[in-house]
Amino acid sequence: MLLDFSQLRPRDAYGWMISTIMPRPIAWVSTIAPDGKTNLAPFSFFQGVTANPPTLMFVPVNTRDGTKKDTVRNIEAVGEFVVNLVSFALAEQMNASAALLPYGESEFEKFGIIAAPSARIRPPRVAAAPVAFECTLERIVHIGEGPLAANVIFGRILLAHVGDDVLGADGRPDAAKLDLIGRMGGEAYTRTRERFDVERPD
Ligand SMILES: Cc1cc2nc3c(=O)[nH]c(=O)nc-3n(C[C@H](O)[C@H](O)[C@H](O)COP(=O)(O)O)c2cc1C
Repeated sequence: MLLDFSQLRPRDAYGWMISTIMPRPIAWVSTIAPDGKTNLAPFSFFQGVTANPPTLMFVPVNTRDGTKKDTVRNIEAVGEFVVNLVSFALAEQMNASAALLPYGESEFEKFGIIAAPSARIRPPRVAAAPVAFECTLERIVHIGEGPLAANVIFGRILLAHVGDDVLGADGRPDAAKLDLIGRMGGEAYTRTRERFDVERPD
């Protein structure tokens, strides 16, 4: 079949994209409002961008009524955020934190997710996350307008908290210990347990 994306409604284009572009890593993003209220939400349009300078990106799209999500409002106001990575053990809490709460109501408090202070920025991190990247806002690129339009958030990575319990004997992250999950289409997720090696050409 051929899919002409110019003929698809945004909602349907979204459905096709998330059920084909997968698995997607999950950025579990903690932010803070100027008045100190914290916020936490998952985003699977997420990737590393470059190591020079260390940069990542994730994409909160606008809500169905065209407004910005709380994460975007906080980052625009404060310019800092934490990208926490999601292990299998955290899947339920991560999913709960995707609930639409009124602006200013904290997912940390509502769902009993334990926060830990960050070292260099104001938003806290998720204490149980195996890896947490403290970031400052590099820039926001807006793509499209209205419902589902993108706010592409680029963050400069200042430092990472890496759990000692996810390191292997060589001092590097051990994928089996990290046990990260990825998002597939719909409500499906995958685990990162089944792996294989392919030797790179010179
Ligand atoms: C696994 C997962 C991945 C998600 N990925 C995205 C995404 O990439 N972009 C987006 O805008 N919303 C995504 N969502 C939905 C947001 O988490 C949800 O809209 C949330 O309420 C936004 O919170 P906020 O308003 O506090 O920023 C995802 C939800 C889940 C469960």
